[in-house]
Amino acid sequence: MVNFHVLTLFPEMIIQGLSASVIGRAVDRGVISLEAVNIRDYTVNKHKKVDDYPYGGGAGMLMQAQPVYDAWKAVAEKIDAHKEKGKRTKVIYVTPGGCTFHQAMAKELAKEEDLIFLCGHYEGIDERVLEEIVTDYVSIGDYVLTGGELPAMVMIDAIARMVPGVLGNQDSGETESFSNYLLEYPQYSRPESWMDKKVPEVLLSGDHKKVEEWRLEQSLERTKAIRPELYDKWAKENQDYFVRKAKKACNLKETMVNY
Ligand code: ADE
Repeated sequence: MVNFHVLTLFPEMIIQGLSASVIGRAVDRGVISLEAVNIRDYTVNKHKKVDDYPYGGGAGMLMQAQPVYDAWKAVAEKIDAHKEKGKRTKVIYVTPGGCTFHQAMAKELAKEEDLIFLCGHYEGIDERVLEEIVTDYVSIGDYVLTGGELPAMVMIDAIARMVPGVLGNQDSGETESFSNYLLEYPQYSRPESWMDKKVPEVLLSGDHKKVEEWRLEQSLERTKAIRPELYDKWAKENQDYFVRKAKKACNLKETMVNY
């Protein structure tokens, strides 16, 4: 069970974006929980203003420290009321200036009881409140979006599907791309022939070992071509695979010689 708390200026984006499909059903079933807290509700400004000009000049506006801090405090106090003392709840600031999100991070974060996401807008957030509350700075990739809501949703989706009980079939979280550095192998469903394209013979053979071997070969081929750095990582950690493969080839040669 992970309780996701999102500090945002656009709570409806978060709730709507994550209310459908697998994640929406997981929330309905109580396997995870999701709340979106409107930072604007915590402003003390009579015009409900949450942004101001940056000192030193520059383009755009900055989100001010006070409403962000007070929104965080309200959530943190609520969490502390039900949590063991001394365990600090992670506060993830989604920013292109953070370290890049990846599958292993999703798996780790899925073990947390509560996670707070802080979504920025405009040109960013006053550094002083970030220093005060943020534990992790995380980006979803080397491009800049207009706000942190989409990155937060991306991360929540990836983390939530690693929480036990969220996916129907528990193992499917593990067997897909990246859980072992490899990209996914191609998959086929009915009919056996479509637009003159046939399903690869081995998948119809019923030989599970052969199917597994074929799938691994396909994954390796794709990964080597598309993501060579992931392939190298896999190869380094799976040297025995290449030894076994070489041995197999040798045995084959030996039998052929004997013939
Ligand atoms: N906010 C804007 N762009 C972002 C990105 N690429 N990752 C995380 N947060 C962001």
